[in-house]
Amino acid sequence: MNTQAQASAEPILRAQALTRVFGEGVTRVEACAGVDLELRQGELLVIKGRSGSGKTTLLNMLAAVDRPTGGSVTLGDVELSSAPEEELVRVRRDRIGFVFQGFGLIPVLSAAENVELPLRLQRMPAAEREDRVARLLADVGLAEHAGQRPPEMSGGQQQRVGIARALATDPDVLFADEPTGQLDSMTAAVIMDLLVELVRKRGMAAVVTTHDPAMAERASLVLELHDGRVVSRHAGAAVG
Ligand SMILES: Nc1ncnc2c1ncn2[C@@H]1O[C@H](COP(=O)(O)OP(=O)(O)OP(=O)(O)O)[C@@H](O)[C@H]1O
Ligand SMILES: [Mg+2]
Repeated sequence: MNTQAQASAEPILRAQALTRVFGEGVTRVEACAGVDLELRQGELLVIKGRSGSGKTTLLNMLAAVDRPTGGSVTLGDVELSSAPEEELVRVRRDRIGFVFQGFGLIPVLSAAENVELPLRLQRMPAAEREDRVARLLADVGLAEHAGQRPPEMSGGQQQRVGIARALATDPDVLFADEPTGQLDSMTAAVIMDLLVELVRKRGMAAVVTTHDPAMAERASLVLELHDGRVVSRHAGAAVG
C-alpha cells in the first residue's frame, strides 16, 4: 500500500483515445469518444457531466467492467482492452474496488459478511479476514453494526458497508459510480467526505462520477463529458 508521500510518478491508470460505440447504423451511439487521461496513486479523478454524457461508460471501461471499441486503457501493467477474460477477472478481484449507486449489498448477509466476501474470494485465512473486517467496519464508523443486515440499515449506513467492502482487498484503484445518488443531500455530503478521507489516507487512486459540484473541489483532476467527449479538463483544488 502506498502512502501519499510515496506517490509514484508512474500512472496507475492510463487511457488513450478511449472510445466506446454502442449499436450500428441509425442506433449507433458514440458513448465515449477519444478520452485521454492519466491517474497516479493518491489522486482523485472526478468525472462529471449531464445524464447520458458517458460517465458510466467511461468508468466501466477504466474499471475492467466493459471493453472499449477503440483506444487503450492500462491499469498498472495490464492492458485491459486486449487482456484475456481470466486476467480481467483477476484485476477486478485483486486490484479494483467498486462502490455502486445502489450499494450492491447482499441483503441476507450481515454487514460483516458483506465486507468479508471479497476476502473469501481471495482465499484469505479466516483469522486474518476477521481482523480485516473489524478494522474496515471501524474505519467506516460501523463497529457497532457488524451483525446487522442491509435491510435493517439506513441508506448512509449501507453505503458505508459498500465502501468498506470496496476497500477490503486494499485495491490499487477505487471506482465509484454516483455513490451518493440514492442518498439525501446531507447524508451524501458525509459519505463523500468519508470516501475521500479513506482514499487519501490509503494513498490510493480513485475515480468518482458525480453530479455533485462540491466533489470537484476535492479532486486532483475533473473531467467534464458531453456526448462522450471531454469538454473541460481542469485540476481540482486538491492537486495531489
Ligand atoms: N449498453 C448500451 N447499449 C446502448 N447504448 C448505451 C449502452 N450503455 C450506454 N448507452 C448510451 O451511451 C450514452 C452514455 O450513457 P452513460 O450511461 O455512460 O451516461 P451517464 O453519463 O452515466 O448518464 P447518467 O448520469 O444518467 O448515469 C447514452 O446515450 C446511453 O444511452
Ligand atoms: Mg451513469
